[in-house]
Amino acid sequence: KRLILIGPPGSGKGTQSPIIKDEYCLCHLATGDMLRAAVAAKTPLGIIAKETMEKGELVSDDLVVGIIDDAMKKPSCQKGFILDGFPRTVAQAEKLDEMLQKQGTKIDKVLDFAIDDSILEERITGRWIHASSGRTYHTKFAPPKVPGIDDVTGEPLMQRKDDTAAVLKSRLEAFHRQTEPVIDYYNKKGVVAKLPAEKPPKEVTIEVQKVLS
Ligand code: AP5
Ligand code: ZN
Repeated sequence: KRLILIGPPGSGKGTQSPIIKDEYCLCHLATGDMLRAAVAAKTPLGIIAKETMEKGELVSDDLVVGIIDDAMKKPSCQKGFILDGFPRTVAQAEKLDEMLQKQGTKIDKVLDFAIDDSILEERITGRWIHASSGRTYHTKFAPPKVPGIDDVTGEPLMQRKDDTAAVLKSRLEAFHRQTEPVIDYYNKKGVVAKLPAEKPPKEVTIEVQKVLS
């Protein structure tokens, strides 16, 4: 299966991705995770992206399209993939269509993580992540066994620099202005499934499974 997950910051894309990935043996391509890794490693790409990400704005289409183009060539991504956080502009969606056309494939489903903005601040400001694995926790909704410590490795957890209430405002603005049109783009192709993303994680998983079965 070739899937796209679209939703505002904190809607649960990164939480559901590993579950979908394991169940369908897909590769998980999250542009945000790849960009954060580039920033941490101070690669040329990371140096360009850092400031834009910290402001909660979108990095340039060319840059992310390049990342995705490279990543999709991996053998593990040939049978199917989950795109998490890409495409985020109509221009990115058009570029993706071109790439898939060349391979003779297309997107099977777009999962639309629909949720009210008002719920997102609590989700974002309470999020803690294990940087190297991407495992995600929440102080209230998904607490680690020991506060601030990863359950699996025992390593410390961290918070993302853009996970503040102030930066969330810009991220939501970018979502409504630049990414919501992408949902319309795929609605016209008839491949969008709308999910009740405000429900608890396990219930969202059940809805995802219904859509994909
Ligand atoms: P990115 O990393 O993609 O961030 P985002 O879209 O803002 O999404 P998040 O990762 O914040 O949300 P999520 O839906 O994954 O939430 P999660 O499941 O973790 O992008 C970051 C930046 O990179 C962008 O601002 C931009 O600058 C740049 N970028 C990335 N892609 C780009 C692109 N294509 N083009 C241009 N720029 C790009 O959940 C959040 C919290 O809530 C967690 O703590 C979790 O435990 C909890 N939670 C999850 N689900 C539930 C639930 N159902 N109930 C209760 N709590 C829940
Ligand atoms: Zn995410």
